[in-house]
Amino acid sequence: DDGAPDGVGVLDWFFGVAAIGSRRSSFVVAVLGAAGGIGQPLAAFVKANARVRELRLYDVAPVVRGVGVDLSHINTRAKVRAYVGDAELDACLRGCDLVVVPAGVPRKPGMSRDDLFGVNAGIVRTLCEAIARSCPNALVNIISNPVNSTVPIAAEVFKRSGCYDARKLMGVTHLDVMRARTFVAEAKGFDDPTIVDVPVIGGHAGATILPLLSQTTPRCAFTDEEAAALTRRIQNGGTEVVEAKGGAGSATLSMAAAAAEFADACLRGLSGESGIWACAYVESSVASAPFFATKVLLGKHGVERVSGPGAMSPFEKRAMENMLPELQASINKGINFVG
Ligand code: NAD
Ligand code: LMR
Repeated sequence: DDGAPDGVGVLDWFFGVAAIGSRRSSFVVAVLGAAGGIGQPLAAFVKANARVRELRLYDVAPVVRGVGVDLSHINTRAKVRAYVGDAELDACLRGCDLVVVPAGVPRKPGMSRDDLFGVNAGIVRTLCEAIARSCPNALVNIISNPVNSTVPIAAEVFKRSGCYDARKLMGVTHLDVMRARTFVAEAKGFDDPTIVDVPVIGGHAGATILPLLSQTTPRCAFTDEEAAALTRRIQNGGTEVVEAKGGAGSATLSMAAAAAEFADACLRGLSGESGIWACAYVESSVASAPFFATKVLLGKHGVERVSGPGAMSPFEKRAMENMLPELQASINKGINFVG
């Protein structure tokens, strides 16, 4: 008995497992872009995470102060602090263990993620320069699109500042995994998608998103047509939401849930839990492209191990070969932006 009161706490349904034993771990987490469509619900999830002792909210939009006041009324232990604009950015970051970055513009119908590069590349560069100054040892989760390029931008900024540690920088691709779990559960008639797992590898745009349906657990057989259709739907998941919202933005609520679950996995790793595997877009040598999403083992220093793609079907092998030039081009574009 740890002395905790009985009964269901705030968002225990989401962080029920996370809450166990978490009173001994205690982290400072910042959300940059916290007033946005992703930032607000993500901040609410993080406020509910019992591993978090302090939640820092940063945005260029002054309403972030109100978002902070709003969240501060939730009776979880995380203290909430809000910061507005460049002048307060370093104070926001000082002492952070984990920085989650959903700052930047989202797509409208007809746009590719790469169309966001012109605005978001500069935002990510500026924020990462501040991270390098103020919390160079923090784990960094990049959500801002195009992820295939913004993660290499972040890496380049950190290298130039002399603080780059590849274990600490991750592009968040967990929404692709959530979609794959959901769509496979639907297709196979599993009533509970939480029992399904599908690794999603490569990157986070169009054909670079590659679900390894052949590695689905519990084991499932897919016809070629089924595998092709599910792969297309998972690759198109972001566009499905962009079109459904008709110009009002892209995935925010599902992304917030995915980012919160991934951030929690990072905190569990930091607090010394073992066996925390998740897919993320990180620097590695498991593929010919220097940044590649696969399953990674999260530990006390961030990414402790990067797993290769493993056994793939002929369809998946072809898809991987075909996507690598696009992925490499997006990586080069990010590196050249800083260089
Ligand atoms: P949004 O426009 O609703 O919110 C973005 C927020 O960022 C706004 O509050 C804005 O004020 C803030 N911002 C802008 N410039 C900033 C800066 N320099 N510093 C701090 N904050 C700044 O957009 P959203 O729907 O929350 O999406 C944000 C980003 O996340 C987009 O680039 C989108 O494409 C991306 N995204 C990624 C994934 C993924 O799977 N990785 C999923 C969904 C969306
Ligand atoms: C997504 O996958 O939902 C995000 O990358 C947002 C987008 O533009 O599709």
